Amino acid sequence: MPALAVVGMQWGDEGKGKITDLFAEKSDYVVRFHGGSNAGHTVEVNGVAFKFHQIPSGILHRRTTAVIANGTVVDAEQLISEMDALEQQGYSTSRLWISDRAQLVMPYHRALDGAEERLRGAGAIGTTKRGIGPCYADKAARNGFRVGELLWDEGRLLEKLKFTVAVKNAYANALSESMQLSAEELLKNMLKWKERLAPHITDTAYMLNAALAKGKNVLFEGAHGILLDIDHGNYPFVTSSNTVPGNIYTGAGINTQQRVKVLGVVKAYATRVGAGPFPTELQDETGQHLAEKGAEFGTTTGRKRRCGWLDLFAVKYCDMLSGTSSIALTKLDVLSGLSSIRVATGYRLKGKLLKHYPHDALLLSECVPVYKEMKGWEEDITGITKYRDLPTNAVRYIEFIEKYLGKPVSVVSTGQSRSSTIVRKGIL
Ligand code: GDP
Ligand code: IMO
Ligand code: MG
Repeated sequence: MPALAVVGMQWGDEGKGKITDLFAEKSDYVVRFHGGSNAGHTVEVNGVAFKFHQIPSGILHRRTTAVIANGTVVDAEQLISEMDALEQQGYSTSRLWISDRAQLVMPYHRALDGAEERLRGAGAIGTTKRGIGPCYADKAARNGFRVGELLWDEGRLLEKLKFTVAVKNAYANALSESMQLSAEELLKNMLKWKERLAPHITDTAYMLNAALAKGKNVLFEGAHGILLDIDHGNYPFVTSSNTVPGNIYTGAGINTQQRVKVLGVVKAYATRVGAGPFPTELQDETGQHLAEKGAEFGTTTGRKRRCGWLDLFAVKYCDMLSGTSSIALTKLDVLSGLSSIRVATGYRLKGKLLKHYPHDALLLSECVPVYKEMKGWEEDITGITKYRDLPTNAVRYIEFIEKYLGKPVSVVSTGQSRSSTIVRKGIL
């Protein structure tokens, strides 16, 4: 049984949390391999919505072990409050493990994320201001603090903090951000983090390779979306990690003997939070309708998500990078009631049909989508669990997606809750 990865095939918020939770039931491990508290994954069970930022969405299943692997950036304050919230709701976090190699998001990372965004002015990326970019930058520059360093003795930690804080204060002040952090104060915070997190810190690469060698079921939960990948997305309007499933190997430290099957999550329309090109964006009543009916507000920042038609040309690019086995199509219920639905099947740039998805954000912003128009359906399909109960035009929409991508749709999500799902047997 190969490992399974759930990854988003757009700009995030495709419904990865819901789909991860669904498959976590049969998984021994659920693993986050990149990103941090910029992610916001929602799982709804019996009318209760759980919002996960750093804890893998599978933790609600009592026999599943949750792993925050080495490729992530960990905001300890936020993680502890997520753990507290889960404990208060009656869920144990004793099966949560954090890699000793994951990076710590420090308070100055958050402050600098905000300061750098302000300086970008009109060119701002629209980050979540969770310190993600500055933290990954420090990792690459080898100036970061790793989770495992929480276990250092205080003297050694204070020495490193003194040097780092002096540099960060000076940099922040140069950006007109008044920041006067003290190494001693930060040390106090880190000791609090240590007290709470130390029992959860381990070498997760050993843990996961051993689990895979024993034939355990391991589920990797992607964050953000392939179009936000630092290399392959719409740079610079991207996040700071590799979101492609190839990063599972480095981000979780598993070896390349392991085969990972990929389930691509595609929302039945498109959304984007923050700045950056969005060729199929709808700035009209239909866009407004999708936003309202789909409750398109960011899980992490509460920002209104921009909405538009499904862009299959972009999804196909994401599929090329990911190698999906099948697709989980989410939020199909949101399209009910539209008399016609459009799907982008290609782009024209200066009148010329493109063969490849553009690498340059400016070029992408000049692309004009080529649309296929399809008939919509009136019926409310919320909560449908059998494929045969879907309206004919909804089935035609799914079949068009399958034909265009050359991949089967194995899961159709028809509502927020865990139970509002069609799983087509034998396809995954
Ligand atoms: P993620 O970041 O990919 O996990 O997605 P988010 O949780 O940020 O955003 C997806 C939102 O859509 C959440 O509020 C989900 O509860 C909700 N959702 C997921 N699947 C469906 C669906 O099929 N229909 C509807 N109406 N909502 C859904
Ligand atoms: P999930 O996992 C949607 C976007 C931000 C911004 C850009 C960079 O819930 O799908 P960052 O804070 O990462 O430096 O911001 O990336 N972004 C997301 N958009 N869903 C997400 O995560 C996102 N994570 C980052 O809005 O445009
Ligand atoms: Mg989200």
